[in-house]
Amino acid sequence: MRVRLISFALIIVTLAAPLAAAQKVEVTVDASKAGAKIDRNIFGQFAEHLGHGVYEGIWVGPRSPIPNTRGIRNDVVAALKALKVPNVRWPGGCFADEYHWRKGIGPERPETLNPNWGGVIEPNTFGTHEFLDFIEQIGAEAYLSVNVGSGTPQEAAEWLEYLTTAQPTALAKERAANGHPAPYRIAFLGIGNESWDCGGNMTVDYYLSQLKIYSRFVRNFNPAQQDKQQMLKIAVGPGGGEPRFNEWAEAVMKAWQHRQWSLDFNGLSLHSYTVVNWDKKFASTGFGEAEYSQFLKATLEMEGLVSKYSDMMDKYDPQKKVALVVDEWGAWYAPLPGSNPGFLVQQNSLRDAILTALNLNIFAHHADRVRMANIAQMINVLQAMILTDKEKMVLTPTYYVYKMYVPFQDATFVPVTFNAGAYTHGDITLPRVDAIAAKDKAGKLWLEITNVDPNQAVEIEVSLSGITAKSATGETLTAPKIDSVNSFDAPNTVAPKPISAKAQGGKLVLKLEPKSVTVISIEQ
Ligand code: AHR
Repeated sequence: MRVRLISFALIIVTLAAPLAAAQKVEVTVDASKAGAKIDRNIFGQFAEHLGHGVYEGIWVGPRSPIPNTRGIRNDVVAALKALKVPNVRWPGGCFADEYHWRKGIGPERPETLNPNWGGVIEPNTFGTHEFLDFIEQIGAEAYLSVNVGSGTPQEAAEWLEYLTTAQPTALAKERAANGHPAPYRIAFLGIGNESWDCGGNMTVDYYLSQLKIYSRFVRNFNPAQQDKQQMLKIAVGPGGGEPRFNEWAEAVMKAWQHRQWSLDFNGLSLHSYTVVNWDKKFASTGFGEAEYSQFLKATLEMEGLVSKYSDMMDKYDPQKKVALVVDEWGAWYAPLPGSNPGFLVQQNSLRDAILTALNLNIFAHHADRVRMANIAQMINVLQAMILTDKEKMVLTPTYYVYKMYVPFQDATFVPVTFNAGAYTHGDITLPRVDAIAAKDKAGKLWLEITNVDPNQAVEIEVSLSGITAKSATGETLTAPKIDSVNSFDAPNTVAPKPISAKAQGGKLVLKLEPKSVTVISIEQ
């Protein structure tokens, strides 16, 4: 990362250089060097009971005319399978701290309320078994968030026993009667959500006493998850960079450092949305270059946050046993006009594609500490992968970035150096390009390059050491305008196109379109 920042500083000093010279960016990839593994779990998703995220987005019910498997939409499942979604966080968010799992199992499902999100009726027709069926259909792992705010340790402990025990207990028999005799596999457990705010407005001392109780008694009994593949527990961490969050995060990590055998957790969560102004949120479409550049500047604050909390965690956990889990992140805009403001409905434009690549690259640069992340949220809510309207479905620009990044899942980070250059609009200056490289398990080298500049193409000259490149092929994502979107009427305005390059004098030369995200694999 340091290399990137230094390069950026250098180019600011040389901004007076002729424009044509600044349009060429030399990228050097040393394929003989290896960094940390880019954990596939940083490509995780988040599905809260919020608006049409679950109901309509995933669940239409078995009697729906929309093609479905046991009530879960087939089109959505097929689209998500292509992303190789590693994990899905559920049922919230703020919703999780008011969720009582027993209302979502068995034949009788009482209607309850969803006070956080529009005060609407929660039908509970999508509950534990339906979520785990969905997870299985898309091939992901379950990340359950248990109710610490208004639930009890006993309620959470019984949920986990119901889900995971192989012994013939009353709860296991109830699970079998509800259609699943075998224990479920639960890979991740979140102990509370934003407990400093919507999760109960707790002090850190109060939260720590809860964390100790929940982490001791909420056990996973699945025999297949005892020695290997143990369930990882994630504690509530900071929600930004303010002093109160520093204090919170330090206190939680201090408790981990001084833990006894009865306390353990494996992740500290970080929530950070790109917003600019919470009271006057930006629109998700119909914006100009001023808002484009301002929003991307704000999203790059993720780098500072991740660095800061990684450094802090190094003090208490130099061996990096505890992961920084960015389990809520993404663009948060004003609700679309005419939508229920409690449903957090927004469009998804090319700007969001660029924003996604910039954040995924930040996580990849910190892959030694950031081993999990969950974009908010998967369908129809905030920065979604997918939008649905009754039987219609559309894939967003963000979806396509996730698809293009699939080769980076569990790949090994490879250092890249480049002069980022500068893109300036008004008083905002951003690095013009960003890039990461990684080697997949088969040894193939992948390179991602983002051209943030909405006006100028960039000629990229890639020098590779450690391998002899012959050519490169891949995909590039751009669109006519920074706020181009995919709509139900025009679903392919922002869609990846093939791109390729041949080696010239041992170097690969690629021309990247303005405002584009490009992923290529290098052929040797
Ligand atoms: O993602 C929407 C909400 O944002 C979540 O429920 C909450 O955890 C966060 O404040």
